[in-house]
Amino acid sequence: MRKVGFIGWRGMVGSVLIKRMIEESDFSDFDSYFFSTSQAGQKNPEWNISFKNETLIDAFDIQELSKMDILMSCQGGEYTSKVFSQLRNIKWEGHWIDAASTLRMKEDSLIVLDPINKKSIDKAYDSGIKNWVGGNCTVSLMLLAISGLLEKNLIDWVSSMTYQAASGAGANNMRELLIQMGQIHSSVSDDLDGHNLNILDVDNKALQAMNSEKFQKSNFQVPLAGNLIPWIDEDLNNGQSREEWKGQSETNKILAIDFNPIKVDGLCVRIATMRSHCQALTLKLNKNIPIEEINDIIANGNEWIKFIPNKKEQSVNLLSPAQVSGKLNIAVGRVRKLDIDQNCISIFTVGDQLLWGAAEPIRRMLKILINKGNSK
Ligand code: HSE
Repeated sequence: MRKVGFIGWRGMVGSVLIKRMIEESDFSDFDSYFFSTSQAGQKNPEWNISFKNETLIDAFDIQELSKMDILMSCQGGEYTSKVFSQLRNIKWEGHWIDAASTLRMKEDSLIVLDPINKKSIDKAYDSGIKNWVGGNCTVSLMLLAISGLLEKNLIDWVSSMTYQAASGAGANNMRELLIQMGQIHSSVSDDLDGHNLNILDVDNKALQAMNSEKFQKSNFQVPLAGNLIPWIDEDLNNGQSREEWKGQSETNKILAIDFNPIKVDGLCVRIATMRSHCQALTLKLNKNIPIEEINDIIANGNEWIKFIPNKKEQSVNLLSPAQVSGKLNIAVGRVRKLDIDQNCISIFTVGDQLLWGAAEPIRRMLKILINKGNSK
């Protein structure tokens, strides 16, 4: 059995990953070793799986790490920056699977999203690639939503306007969003109990609470509840945010397109939802295809698509974070031809940022590596 070491399994993405692995009985296929950056020597978590390590192993111990055939890190970019090159410098030849973005655009790494790029994964494996990195959540979720159109080479360009959940910013940000919601409610709860029927007055009180010194915003720096933030990740000083830059760069890396890249651009916006990212896409197709055919192609793109017909009731009830969070479905709807151009269509898509947006592609990559090893 191959030795697989896990780092960062206690964090948010790590926890979602482990939960999925237990659901799919993945742990029976290899020997598992659990590492910790802060609790080496302490007890293993209380899960019903078999641990090869008696106590947690030091995640900074390069010798211990190098005994693994595969390392799976959800520990974050800082850890990857510290540890990865030390391992490669001592000629560790194992596979490194990572949820962090640090190594994503490196030449000797592949961004993994196997429903889209299984052929590239196979080719990279055969050519000796050993670094496998999960993609940016909006990019992975978008590619899954439009996989049918991609497969048929129908896309000229994509504009993606995102509505990104708090989870993309981290667990503390999710907590802060809920605290902010509570603070706004507390500021007007008496009024809502029927003592004040003047909604403009109530709204003004809520606004004052959001903009007061006491409002909790140490993570987001500004209110997210009752608000939105039209910038995600660094300022690249060319008008684009790093999150927006990832759209085209990662899409084309995943699709292994070197020349004539598919153009992808748009604005990335954080909104007050918990863990599902939404995207309003405008696509320019390279052909004028009837809408019924477009619907079929999108709906049959992959087994996770939940296609929602472009009707008011279904869209309102099914095409939302409240319906999709916690599920592996990629909801896709609001598909219609835009009046601006016969070849332009709209799509609205919703996907869980922690599942297909983070944990699922790397969980499946581990499975792919284990299967490849077993078939040798
Ligand atoms: N960068 C994403 C976000 C999450 O901020 O929502 C990670 O892919």
